[in-house]
Amino acid sequence: NLFAYLFVIAGYLLGSVASAIVVCRLLGLGDPRAGGSGNPGATNVMRLHGRLPALLTLAGDLLKGLLPVLAAQAFDQAISVVALTGLAAFLGHLYPVFFRFQGGKGVATLIGVLFGLYWLLGLGFVATWLVMAGLFRYSSLAAICAAMLTPVYTALLVPNLLVVGVTGVMTLFLIARHRSNIQNLMAGNEGRIGEKG
Ligand code: G3P
Repeated sequence: NLFAYLFVIAGYLLGSVASAIVVCRLLGLGDPRAGGSGNPGATNVMRLHGRLPALLTLAGDLLKGLLPVLAAQAFDQAISVVALTGLAAFLGHLYPVFFRFQGGKGVATLIGVLFGLYWLLGLGFVATWLVMAGLFRYSSLAAICAAMLTPVYTALLVPNLLVVGVTGVMTLFLIARHRSNIQNLMAGNEGRIGEKG
C-alpha cells in the first residue's frame, strides 16, 4: 500500500540526517569527516571533540533508527513494512541523500532500529558491544561482534524470516563498512577507545 512506501521513504530521509555532521556544525566544531578516521559517527566525534558531542551524535543516530520503526508500528504497519522502514533508515545513514551518499558505518542507527523492532534485540546488541569493548577496548571490533550475533539473536527472539533477513543484510553492510577498521585491527594499529586519533 501507498502508506507503507511513505514509511520506508521517511525512514530513508531521516536516516540520511548525519547527526555527527549536524552536531559538530551546530556546536561550531570541526567537521568529523576531516579528522580522525574521517567517519561521521559517535566514535570519531568522541576521538576528535570529546564526550558531550559524541553523546549527542550517538543519541541522534540512534533515534533516527528508532523513531521510524516505532512510527510504523504505531500506525499498525505489517512487520515486513516495519522491518523495511528500519532497513531504510539504516541505509540512509550509510548512503545519505543529503551528504553526497557518503555516510557512516551504521552502528548507532542499527541499535535504534533493533530497539524499535524488539527491545531485547537492542539490549542484546548493546550488551555484546559492552562486553567486547570492555575486554578489548576497540569500538569497531565490539560493533562487528555485536552485529554478527544480531541475526542469531533475531532468529531466537523474532521468528520471522523477513526480520531475520533484514538484520542479516544490515550486519553485512555494517561489516563491509568497517573494512578499514578490520585492516587496522589485523595490522595492530586500530585506535583503542579513549585514545586520540
Ligand atoms: O563503530 C563505529 C566505529 O565502529 C568505528 O568508527 O571512527 O573508529 O572508524 P571509527
